[in-house]
Amino acid sequence: MKEWYELLFENYAHKYDQERYVHGTSGECDSIEQEINRDKSIKILDIGCGTGRHAIEMAKRGYQVTGIDLSESQLKRAREKAKEQGVEVDFQRHDARNLPFKGDFDLAIMLCEGGFSLMETDEMNFEILKSATKSLKNNGKFIFTTLNGLFPLLHSVKEFYESAGKGGGSVCKSISFDLMTFRDHNRVEFEDDAGNKKVLECNERCYVPSEITWLLHSLGYKKIEIFGAKLGAYSRKDKLSPEDFEMLVIAEK
Ligand SMILES: C[S@@+](CC[C@H](N)C(=O)[O-])C[C@H]1O[C@@H](n2cnc3c(N)ncnc32)[C@H](O)[C@@H]1O
Repeated sequence: MKEWYELLFENYAHKYDQERYVHGTSGECDSIEQEINRDKSIKILDIGCGTGRHAIEMAKRGYQVTGIDLSESQLKRAREKAKEQGVEVDFQRHDARNLPFKGDFDLAIMLCEGGFSLMETDEMNFEILKSATKSLKNNGKFIFTTLNGLFPLLHSVKEFYESAGKGGGSVCKSISFDLMTFRDHNRVEFEDDAGNKKVLECNERCYVPSEITWLLHSLGYKKIEIFGAKLGAYSRKDKLSPEDFEMLVIAEK
């Protein structure tokens, strides 16, 4: 049986690109470029690239980018968009838990929950971190955003989704936040690209910063920094607080 994160992205690429939370791409890429000192020789891996918004923008800015995703439908749209915009991105279908790369990339990005935190077990989520790490060169950098587990501790679950701004085509209704597993169980109601109305029961793992630090230390990262992640404006100046729905993780091997 397919998992919710496979069903959600099956025929949803056009609608996905209309979601409110995908409109900060240019500002997000500005911050990523700052992190790599605008060094155009850098090879970038975009994990869970979806319809390719960051991969395509970074390719436009002159970087060599490979984008991977589990969803063939998202990748199809990504390839179309790259062609329309006249840029080359190497889009490949892979499961982020088991990537075929070994020391090939200088930078891995995984933004807006590109796989990590969506998996059904903590072990599977960890496999994604392991696989991303293996794909990086010895001095590689890993930048990702993930749900901030401090947020639901101090806010109601209803607020959790109001703040998430999932106000595009989909409506996300929280069912419960499980304090034992730190999983948010929610119901997403949406229309796919063919206009079919769908309802999915989803659950996403929220991580607290100390867990992320520990997981990444165990994978050998020497420097791990965590900030608040504001849509379209990632910044090192953003000290993480429980008001941040997402956090920005910057880790160096
Ligand atoms: C919320 S979207 C984020 C897409 C993109 N990074 C962005 O910022 O718009 C999550 C993406 O992760 C992909 N995904 C989910 N599980 C995955 C896995 N195990 N391996 C690779 N991609 C996965 C989905 O197909 C989807 O395209």
